[in-house]
Amino acid sequence: MKIPSVKGFHDVLPDESARWSWIEQCVRATVAHYGFVEIRVPIVERTELFSRSIGETTDIVEKEMYTFGDRDGSSLTLRPEGTASVVRAYVEHALQTREPVSKLFYLGPMFRRERPQKGRLRQFSQVGVEIIGRDDAAIDAEVVLLLHDLLEALRIRGARIELNSLGDAACRPAYREALRAFGEAHRAELCENCARRLERNPLRLLDCKVPECRQATAGAPVMLDHLCAPCAAHFATVRAMLAREGVPVVLNPRMVRGLDYYVRTAFEVVAEGLGAQNAVGGGGRYDGLVKALDGPDAAGIGFALGIERLVLSMEDHADARPGAPELFIAPLGAAAEAEAMHLAHRWRRAGMRVEMTSGGKSLKSQMRMADKAGARYVLIVGDDELASRALTVRDMTAKRDFPRAVDLTLSGSALRATLAQLASEPVEHTA
Ligand code: HAM
Repeated sequence: MKIPSVKGFHDVLPDESARWSWIEQCVRATVAHYGFVEIRVPIVERTELFSRSIGETTDIVEKEMYTFGDRDGSSLTLRPEGTASVVRAYVEHALQTREPVSKLFYLGPMFRRERPQKGRLRQFSQVGVEIIGRDDAAIDAEVVLLLHDLLEALRIRGARIELNSLGDAACRPAYREALRAFGEAHRAELCENCARRLERNPLRLLDCKVPECRQATAGAPVMLDHLCAPCAAHFATVRAMLAREGVPVVLNPRMVRGLDYYVRTAFEVVAEGLGAQNAVGGGGRYDGLVKALDGPDAAGIGFALGIERLVLSMEDHADARPGAPELFIAPLGAAAEAEAMHLAHRWRRAGMRVEMTSGGKSLKSQMRMADKAGARYVLIVGDDELASRALTVRDMTAKRDFPRAVDLTLSGSALRATLAQLASEPVEHTA
């Protein structure tokens, strides 16, 4: 009996993994321009890290975590996101004593036991960035600029950054109360989940997906109308800075995010190709989280993008497809196969991507294989070639054999130069 993979846990097969590698390279290059360095944190943490940071009444903590008892009786959880772990590491290693501002990025798998559908898995991967140690509006703008540059570099179709402010400890409690009172007045029209969470987490009213609930809360008060003066000023500065840089963002006063640690600036990225799960990324400011995890009173801001969703919404282009071989060596006969192995080894060691076959295949079938693999040149090794120590070469792009044979003793760089030279020579026409 075959053993299937676990529901919501997917393999990334070779034709798709080329996209993953390209995304990872692109991310590493872009975040380096902004001065981020990599942090690698464990996949397993103590459960209380997530309940204390993400929030007891969030969907993630209430019902989506993979939590299990370790043999010593402690409760452990597969990380559902990266921010909590990064902040835990920051506090544990007192990173503030090394540098006043930490700019960290990470890549890796996260786990949430959600209902799987297109773009929604139980194991998914994120690339995330976190800046700890700055509370000024300029750093909020910088993070959104980085996000914008990344989306452009990653060639995400129809990407749109939505922005909101969630207020802070000074202004949110009163707003929360106003929203709760609104929800209470409309309790009969709310879905079961929202009605149940009204007391403890009324903000979730705003991003409920149930149509009747959405209708009932269409006129609900929004945080933007309730910001205190410092929060309003902070948000206005962020928006002015982004406008000055020409980065388009859309205000979304109903965006609340699914994690409780956010204050002030929050944002999400929506894109094409995702169906119901249209957020490729999200983030925001989380001043207070470092302190809540028993660290210094350091502000924080960051975001994460989901790699599976980026793969679904990125443009298709050659750089993100698996590479094709430069050379395909086609031997004809046993002696030729031995020589072909020697040639392939020499040229691979010289940095060329070389494929070869063995097992006495016909020239026709080897040509078909080379064509399928997308090889640029096929080097034919037959009895004549072995005797003359020179190879017949077929240029697969121009679909012709070169008029001259190529010396099989050439080094990798000399071979590459010779092939390029031959490919650039005009085709001879015989009358
Ligand atoms: P989040 O919005 O929960 O934020 O997740 C960020 C992204 O991870 C989502 O936009 C989505 O692309 C991807 N994602 C989340 N859940 C799934 C899933 N079940 N399947 C596939 N992709 C998924 C956070 O995680 C915050 N830690 C972001 C952050 C960093 N805020 C500040 N710093």
